[in-house]
Amino acid sequence: MNAKLIATVLVAGAFAGGLWIGGQGDKTVISDGTRNTSYEGGFRADTVTTGGAAAVYEGGAVHVVKDGESIQVAVNAAQPGDTIRVMPGTYIETVYIDKDGIRLIGVIEQGNWPTLEGERRLNDAVLYSGNNIVVENLKITHYKGNAIMGQAGNNFEIRNNLIVDTGVYGVFPQLGQNGIVEGNVISGIEDAAIYVGMSDNVHVAHNEVFDSVAGIEIENSRHAIVENNYVHNNTGGILAFITPGLPIKTTRDVIIRHNFIVDNNTANFGAPGSTVSGIPAGTGILIMAADEVVIHDNIITGNKTAGVLVVDHQNASNVTIDPESDPVPDKVAILNNFMMNNGFDTIDEVKALMLTEFKTGNPDIVRAGDARDGCISDRHRYVVVGVKDFADCDFDNTDAIDTYLLPEPVAAREIDQSEQGKITYLGICTGCHTYTGRMIGPPVQVIQALYMDNPKGLAEYIAAPIKKREDYPEMPPQNYLSEEVRLAVAEYMLQVSN
Ligand code: HEC
Repeated sequence: MNAKLIATVLVAGAFAGGLWIGGQGDKTVISDGTRNTSYEGGFRADTVTTGGAAAVYEGGAVHVVKDGESIQVAVNAAQPGDTIRVMPGTYIETVYIDKDGIRLIGVIEQGNWPTLEGERRLNDAVLYSGNNIVVENLKITHYKGNAIMGQAGNNFEIRNNLIVDTGVYGVFPQLGQNGIVEGNVISGIEDAAIYVGMSDNVHVAHNEVFDSVAGIEIENSRHAIVENNYVHNNTGGILAFITPGLPIKTTRDVIIRHNFIVDNNTANFGAPGSTVSGIPAGTGILIMAADEVVIHDNIITGNKTAGVLVVDHQNASNVTIDPESDPVPDKVAILNNFMMNNGFDTIDEVKALMLTEFKTGNPDIVRAGDARDGCISDRHRYVVVGVKDFADCDFDNTDAIDTYLLPEPVAAREIDQSEQGKITYLGICTGCHTYTGRMIGPPVQVIQALYMDNPKGLAEYIAAPIKKREDYPEMPPQNYLSEEVRLAVAEYMLQVSN
């Protein structure tokens, strides 16, 4: 994507919600979170959510946060339907949004962004667990964990954020349904710049992701479209896969179309042992064990290992098999794509596969391990390896499907007290812990052995973790969870069985 295209995308995104950036004068400023119900400006929630995923609320106050003030104070004062406008300035904090219907919207003035600054010390910039959350126009930099992470929030909209050099995940909606990730520019991420985890009905479009280990990752998620993104200079560009050991066991129905997937040859700098640390540098698209993935009309060039790599779990490094997840990718469809200059410096495993087929040249499309019912169009255009048993596809495109977003916002998850431990576990802990395998943190099985009869001890550990293992990073403190919730999640973690 060239600069002009990016500008168009950003402007289009900024106006899509009907929100005029920077156009609000001081006289309408409502400071310190004071609620002003008589406000009559253009910020009524029902005029700004057209075309989005988030639900419509009546009324809605505006809280303005200025340089030197705290965003969290405004969030605490806000009610569902309210908008928090963050003016240009530097905000050194983690923002927790644990209520519904909050619109956190930066105001960019003359190129000056509101900047959340983690000082390489704070773990997360924005953590939301509410539904109908909008996060827009923020610059986020120097956090250690996540820039924007959603934990079990539905109908989210994350757009036009500029995320630079920020830890493990850039935009990470987890366990959400019906959400949009668009127009973000994200770089320098140690795992995935955009990580859609255990979510359904997600639209990832018009983002630029680069200089990260994984560009865009669709993991244990269903009904996702990844389109019109510029994905360059990562280790791997776009990935659709199943991570074994998580509570959601499938990835299926993913459309990857109209993306530029270029020069993803950055040496892998993922945390040792993490799933993404096994991705060979130079992978354009990686499909691992995911089903019904359609790849079409992408421009895929200059990726040195392969343009498209399709593998099963047996042939992936750093993956433990989960008996409840099918390790084989089914029904992968590779339709028309522009591929050129891929596979020019491929890995030994691919070279060995090529030898068995007496193939020469630089591979565009490589299949390793099992795959069922795959298809490929116009295979003569590419150098292909391992796809002899792929049929010719009997369809050309997915143009009949505009979006998998739902026509109406989905209802908020009802979480009663008894479910608190489970939701917290799924929403937070599984970002780093799986049952059997190593992820960012050690396997839950190992933790269970350590804390079997000691949920209290576990709850205390997570409030103030100390460094225990040489070969793992530090675990970030979970002290923003109440004591009750910490105990609930500890008890839940100790009894999960997959
Ligand atoms: C950002 C990643 C991350 C998240 C999120 C996370 N952990 Fe961890 N966890 C780690 C890492 C890394 C370690 C290993 C730390 C070490 O050994 O120094 C760890 C270790 C642990 C341990 C082992 C403690 C010990 O005594 O050996 C427990 C228990 C634990 N985590 C529980 C949890 C729970 C419960 C949650 C959810 C509320 C959670 N973790 C969320 C990364 C994470």
